[in-house]
Amino acid sequence: MAAKLMVGNWKMNGSLAANASLLSEVLGGMGGVTCRAAVCVPSVYLAQMQSLLAGSAMALGAQDVSAHEDGAYTGEVSATMLRDLAVRYCIVGHSERRQHHGESDLVVASKAQRALAAGITPIVCVGESLAEREAGQTEVVVKRQLAAVIHANGHCISEIVLAYEPVWAIGTGLTATPAQAQQVHAVLRAQLQAATAHAERVSILYGGSMNAANAADLLAQNDVDGGLIGGAALKAPDFLSMLKTASR
Ligand code: PGA
Repeated sequence: MAAKLMVGNWKMNGSLAANASLLSEVLGGMGGVTCRAAVCVPSVYLAQMQSLLAGSAMALGAQDVSAHEDGAYTGEVSATMLRDLAVRYCIVGHSERRQHHGESDLVVASKAQRALAAGITPIVCVGESLAEREAGQTEVVVKRQLAAVIHANGHCISEIVLAYEPVWAIGTGLTATPAQAQQVHAVLRAQLQAATAHAERVSILYGGSMNAANAADLLAQNDVDGGLIGGAALKAPDFLSMLKTASR
């Protein structure tokens, strides 16, 4: 089994000074960490982070990528530009982008495709809203979201990282129970197995109010291969504690 993958999603937080101090505390405490680790930072700070992370065990990630290759798309950042800065992972289809920036399943699938073509591992986010869960639609929704990415990416689907992030759990302090997470992860795993003979290569992360207190129980589930961590990744002691939990 591959080592767990723990990814911090800094969202729209940070400054040159704050990034440097958070990162030096995290990197300084990584003795004994054997899981895979990455931080996804705002794109303006990728260059700063590239140099701060050089030679460390922490990989660099971006939070979004353009669905287009290059050209007249003001404000967009392409996958090849990310690759230029040694970006290893890129979140695509985060619910905040689906919700606030109107990203459809199709756009998310194209973004995953652009990342893969540039040699970047897309961290594809799927997840249901509270209304969808209450209507018994959880599986239908996450399967529809993943199906679009499978359809666009064919056999390359085994090269993605998948993140199950129930929208109602993001930034709310409400976490899916380990059993709820496992149930959806198993559904996603089965869908991947039907699409590729190499489904075991895909790490399926859980995200949504994962923290130092609940990480161990979530990570103990069969199909939970790591975490995508927002708020708790901004506090060095909490993030480090989760990296150590994932290394056990
Ligand atoms: P959270 O965010 O850990 O703050 O809930 C997770 C995410 O949105 O990736």
